[in-house]
Amino acid sequence: MLINRKVLATLGLAAVVTVVSLTSMAPEKEGFKNLKVLPKNITDKQLDHVMDEWAHSLGVRCGFCHVRDEAAKKMDFASDAKPEKEMARKMFKMMNKINEKYFEAKKDSLGMIAESGVNCYSCHRGESHPEVKMPEIHRGPGGPPPAPAAPGTTPPPPPPAPPGNNN
Ligand code: HEC
Ligand code: HEC
Repeated sequence: MLINRKVLATLGLAAVVTVVSLTSMAPEKEGFKNLKVLPKNITDKQLDHVMDEWAHSLGVRCGFCHVRDEAAKKMDFASDAKPEKEMARKMFKMMNKINEKYFEAKKDSLGMIAESGVNCYSCHRGESHPEVKMPEIHRGPGGPPPAPAAPGTTPPPPPPAPPGNNN
């Protein structure tokens, strides 16, 4: 069946030509300049997704971590001028460690730790700076009883009323 072979060969060649032309047609990719924790081969779309996720988890805009280049009148995303950006890198590493060690998360095809266990939102819940405090432990109405004053001392003034619990 010579014809069939010829057809197959032609199709095969066409496929190769298509792939080659698609590759060379792809716009010159600039790449990101300053990635230290995210995979270097991350696509624009994937990076956008990660950034949106971080911004939403913390309830902030891009400018919380990134500076604006006033001279160029645009954001300078590669700059490390804001300490919040470095903090975000640390947080990302911490999160990956937790997920690998305690949630047995595997790496995905990009080498990113697959989402499981904790993410930025687990702790941040839309707050850039989660308050670090211990939970209030209620012991009956009125909370814990005041500590008895040591003999011979003036008891401390009562603590100020807590602000309305309106979160
Ligand atoms: C909570 C902090 C934070 C927020 C919010 C944030 N980013 Fe980022 N962004 C980072 C960090 C950290 C890196 C560097 C990642 C690394 O080192 O691998 C980065 C890297 C980038 C890069 C790559 C720059 C380069 O060339 O190296 C771009 C582009 C970017 N961010 C865009 C955005 C956009 C757009 C937003 C808003 C939707 C945003 N970021 C919000 C922390 C943040
Ligand atoms: C295990 C809980 C936890 C996770 C997960 C977590 N964070 Fe945090 N993050 C905190 C706490 C707590 C603070 C406040 C630390 C302090 O007060 O010193 C903080 C602070 C920060 C800050 C500094 C905020 C400021 O006001 O300066 C940034 C930026 C940040 N986190 C980004 C992230 C990003 C991005 C992620 C996900 C990649 C993330 N965090 C995941 C607990 C977490």
